[in-house]
Amino acid sequence: MTHAATSKGDRPDDQPGGGLLVLLHGVNLGLLGERPAAHYGTVTLRDLETLVSAEAEEHGWRCICHQTDDEGGFVRLIHQYRARAGAMLVNPGAWTHYSYAIHDALELVQAPIGEVHLSDVTTRESWRRVSVISDVVSLTVSGEGPEGYRRAARALIASVGCSDGRGEGPDESQSERSGGSGR
Ligand code: DQA
Repeated sequence: MTHAATSKGDRPDDQPGGGLLVLLHGVNLGLLGERPAAHYGTVTLRDLETLVSAEAEEHGWRCICHQTDDEGGFVRLIHQYRARAGAMLVNPGAWTHYSYAIHDALELVQAPIGEVHLSDVTTRESWRRVSVISDVVSLTVSGEGPEGYRRAARALIASVGCSDGRGEGPDESQSERSGGSGR
């Protein structure tokens, strides 16, 4: 799934000074809204994308969102945006707890990375308490639900400032939802 959200236009030039926030969701997160509400509430992936996009736009940034259930695809998305993102916000889902491939891909990202989880992974099963990506992210927000996404996006953008966000590149000029998990 791809959701490139822009409110003022499709081209990067439309928002001089703003940056590109890349929001990446991993395995099973396309089915938010159906997953156990006790952990994840009733929010949908689309709701989260809208919320984070709105937060980015409030700061003059653009946001592009992807979700995939394919680990290799997630790694390729990280590669694709490693030099173009001004900041990256990731919820790799269960991959968080064991994917060294995602760890190594995130290591290549030139922008600050935020790790976000809807549920509080520190109080759930012991295997969820391990994050193999924690040493390559600059902030982690866990257990704050959708509000945690907003807070993480705001903190990442603040950490970069408003004039350093990357984003130049031919395939930024899009505003659509497509592919991926078939929503
Ligand atoms: C999650 C927590 C993970 O342990 C789990 O596998 C998910 C979602 C969260 O957002 O709380 O799929 O990342």
